[in-house]
Amino acid sequence: MSKALEPTADCEVLKTHQPLNFRNGPYTYQIVREGNRSIYKITDGVNAISEPILFCFGQGKAGQTYVFRHNDVFYESRVSYYQETQSLDFTIVHPHSVPESLEDGLGRAMTVEAAQGCFACHSTASVSGNQLQLDHLIPGVTCEGCHGPGEKHIAAVKARNFKNLQIFNPANMDGDELTQEFCGACHVSFEKALLMPKQGGSNNLRYQPYRIFNSKGHNGDLRISCIACHDPHDKLEQDAAFYDSKCLACHLTVRGQAKTTTRSAPACPVSKQQCVTCHMPKIALPGGHAKFSDHWIRIVKPNEPIPN
Ligand code: HEC
Ligand code: HEC
Ligand code: HEC
Ligand code: HEC
Ligand code: HEC
Ligand code: HEC
Repeated sequence: MSKALEPTADCEVLKTHQPLNFRNGPYTYQIVREGNRSIYKITDGVNAISEPILFCFGQGKAGQTYVFRHNDVFYESRVSYYQETQSLDFTIVHPHSVPESLEDGLGRAMTVEAAQGCFACHSTASVSGNQLQLDHLIPGVTCEGCHGPGEKHIAAVKARNFKNLQIFNPANMDGDELTQEFCGACHVSFEKALLMPKQGGSNNLRYQPYRIFNSKGHNGDLRISCIACHDPHDKLEQDAAFYDSKCLACHLTVRGQAKTTTRSAPACPVSKQQCVTCHMPKIALPGGHAKFSDHWIRIVKPNEPIPN
């Protein structure tokens, strides 16, 4: 998460992939590197608009989207870079139609609130109260993004206020608070998803807190909270076998085995290992050129639609 946002000068994707081009009807998009800047340009062959990219959003695991300013308004780029194709394509949820004008083709002009939202989830210390303070921005989700500002901690140590060291310790939360409120603040909680048109539709595959909340028996307990399976201080573990012990904290291994107070959930009649490969399948996000692991843990039946 520390690479959730990068200033253009440090942006690895733009340093190593250039120029990037995309065509939509009569319009051509181009991202060109100039020294430590990258310029986002759209042209119809006669006229053009070009703006320097301010920030790269996303490490580019699935994709990367660009934020720039045009006429003093923040824009989200109409086209994004996708890892799978190593090229540009429409930004997810943006229209695929031919734009009406150069301005229209640039991207999505954001309200101040929308821009604040992007920065709040992808960077640290960039939003204070209702103000965007890009001069204070620390790229990515850093220690203090989750544990509170270091200054207050240092001030408390200096003041010898050892009773309140001003470090927010998420370890003290219960499972539901941690999953829905803490991680769910950015990864989209059940409650937040319900406020979206049709719960975010197929996009909600990305909303792990929402999906796991819907999953029978998989709620509230710390053994099924986000940190049961993910260490926010470490890389995402991609070996399916790693997760088996997490499931078996509650599920029995053998049918007919005696239940205990801690392990009271039924055993699988099919397999004893690699649980997530069948019960948390990787599903392609429409238009996203990437797969997400479905956190709606369930028995997946062939030909059954993905629950929403
Ligand atoms: C301040 C917002 C924020 C909070 C709070 C947050 N995340 Fe994230 N997280 C992100 C963003 C943004 C990304 C996407 C980073 C990227 O791919 O560029 C991400 C990515 C991830 C990934 C995928 C990493 C990868 O390399 O694919 C995991 C796993 C994850 N977060 C787990 C958690 C857990 C667990 C919590 C709660 C303890 C949490 N996050 C809290 C913003 C947040
Ligand atoms: C509510 C918090 C939130 C807001 C607001 C938000 N994001 Fe994200 N974003 C995330 C999280 C969490 C992830 C990781 C999970 C995923 O890929 O969906 C993510 C992932 C991404 C990715 C894919 C990263 C990768 O490595 O593949 C891109 C690109 C991205 N966001 C761009 C943006 C842009 C641009 C904006 C604003 C215009 C924005 N996001 C607003 C939380 C947020
Ligand atoms: C995405 C949110 C997130 C980020 C970023 C993050 N942490 Fe944490 N941290 C947590 C959570 C959640 C816990 C409690 C669960 C655990 O121990 O993993 C925790 C626990 C800790 C603990 C142990 C506290 C205890 O009493 O057990 C320390 C120390 C810590 N973090 C330091 C750091 C440092 C240093 C960084 C930056 C390099 C950092 N954290 C970044 C979420 C985060
Ligand atoms: C029971 C284990 C488990 C729990 C609990 C869990 N995850 Fe995951 N998560 C996984 C697995 C397995 C993957 C896929 C890892 C891989 O192979 O890339 C994954 C992947 C992710 C990713 C990468 C994008 C994707 O969907 O593949 C993000 C982000 C993420 N989890 C966030 C969360 C958040 C936030 C929570 C809390 C709501 C959470 N996870 C709870 C097992 C879990
Ligand atoms: C906190 C304990 C806990 C953990 C951890 C846990 N489960 Fe469960 N699981 C349950 C309970 C409780 C039920 C519900 C049993 C019932 O009421 O039918 C359940 C139900 C299920 C079901 C049946 C769902 C259905 O629709 O009938 C599957 C499949 C499942 N779990 C798989 C997993 C997998 C795979 C993992 C690890 C990725 C996991 N569980 C982790 C407690 C847990
Ligand atoms: C090869 C795919 C596969 C793997 C791997 C797998 N399962 Fe299953 N699991 C299934 C299928 C299919 C069913 C439904 C069986 C049926 O209804 O006859 C099932 C059923 C279940 C049930 C419901 C049992 C009940 O009595 O209601 C649970 C719980 C479960 N699995 C947990 C797990 C756990 C935990 C693991 C890892 C130790 C695991 N599964 C590994 C395919 C798998």
